[in-house]
Amino acid sequence: MAFPKGFLWGAASAAYQVEGGYLDDGKKENIWDHFSHEKGRIMHGENGDVACDHYHRWREDVALMKKIGLKSYRFSVSWSRVLPDGVGEVNEKGIQFYSDLVDALLEAGIEPLLTLYHWDLPMALHAQGGWLNPQSPAWFEEYTRVVVDRLSDRVKYFMTFNEPQMFVGLGLQVGQMAPFDTHSTEEVMDISRNLFLAHGRAVSVIRKEGKQAAKIGMAPTGDVYLPKSEDKDDVEEARKASFALNPGFFTLGNGWWTDPIFLGRFSESAVEMFGDALPKFTEEEWALISQPLDFFGFNAYQGSVHYPISPDGYQDYAYVGSPRTTTDWGLTPDVLYWAPKFMYERYGKPILITENGMAGMDWVSLDGAVHDSCRIDFLHRYLLSLERVIDEGVPVIGYTQWSIMDNFEWCHGYDKRFGLIYVDYRTQERTCKDSAYWYGQVIRTNGESLHEGAAL
Ligand code: BG6
Repeated sequence: MAFPKGFLWGAASAAYQVEGGYLDDGKKENIWDHFSHEKGRIMHGENGDVACDHYHRWREDVALMKKIGLKSYRFSVSWSRVLPDGVGEVNEKGIQFYSDLVDALLEAGIEPLLTLYHWDLPMALHAQGGWLNPQSPAWFEEYTRVVVDRLSDRVKYFMTFNEPQMFVGLGLQVGQMAPFDTHSTEEVMDISRNLFLAHGRAVSVIRKEGKQAAKIGMAPTGDVYLPKSEDKDDVEEARKASFALNPGFFTLGNGWWTDPIFLGRFSESAVEMFGDALPKFTEEEWALISQPLDFFGFNAYQGSVHYPISPDGYQDYAYVGSPRTTTDWGLTPDVLYWAPKFMYERYGKPILITENGMAGMDWVSLDGAVHDSCRIDFLHRYLLSLERVIDEGVPVIGYTQWSIMDNFEWCHGYDKRFGLIYVDYRTQERTCKDSAYWYGQVIRTNGESLHEGAAL
């Protein structure tokens, strides 16, 4: 059977998207709190003040995770809940929340996978320039130290950053998500430099001060191109395209972040594009940034392709009438074959799929259930691709469904439903969708049920 023993079957969330508890128990604002309150930023003027109220309902949520049968749960810590001013005084009640959550997860037999930063920079630090400030690596180190000090006796798996592609590219370069800034290329170089150093300093803290041997990675994303055929030349072309940077939007590319971190150098494409304008590091800094990690996390939603008919107005994975999710993302199961393959071949680390999933048109039916057959078919196809790559020898240690429950989808507000669990935001009532039960069966059989025929 392809899926190895101990495979980390899981689901994910991020603090701002599920917690709510806006200013509860000493928490202060982060950039998403702040900017979502500005008019016109978020669909329907929504915000994460309450979200799924997970801050208060975490016990019920962990019980549902247990009922589904999850083996792992990926969540992020809200920096400004733990350190309301970003640095300085620790908010005991804030860190206690995560400590209690971790205890409950372990008691339920669920491995906690902790992301340090899923986009919610404390406002106090944003006011000082945020990631552009050369002090930011030290801020991140201090924050990491608090989390490691209080949680690393029980948490083994750490991820530093979730998708720097998105929070730098969309948040700081083109102004499409909080803090809606548009920095010049030169400034983005400085931001990148700070993030590389912040990552390195955090890894050092986890390694040196952690209370048990940790497994460290990050959770990047990026366009992965699907080859036209499985002929050698087509595969090579797709591989090349997957690591080539787009000059207008280099921060979104694979390799911009992960080559320095996993290979200790900038990618060929980055050197070609920027030459001397790339951030400069001393030898010690390179060693800090690229110290060995334990796994390569990857958020994979859709593959990209150059070749199908792409009339104007279609994204390059789409064709006339192609299946797309409600975020308009293409149904491309092969991405869970090619992404792990390309990433493993380049970086040589075991792969953890840190996110994969889809937004659907989910609602509670008259019978009280949520019949999300599209999500079941989606997951079924993607997991068969993942199984194929494992069968071919790529080490994959886990798969994390995005998301454990419907949540605040950033600028989409609550319109997009990605969850295994349906949330009625008026009452906070939770309903496990059909896909949650289906996924539970996949987990219980360690993937064998994927071969029992189509799901419905
Ligand atoms: C990833 C993020 O980009 O995709 C998640 O890590 C996010 O936080 C998910 O919710 C879905 O994307 P979107 O763009 O619909 O929010």
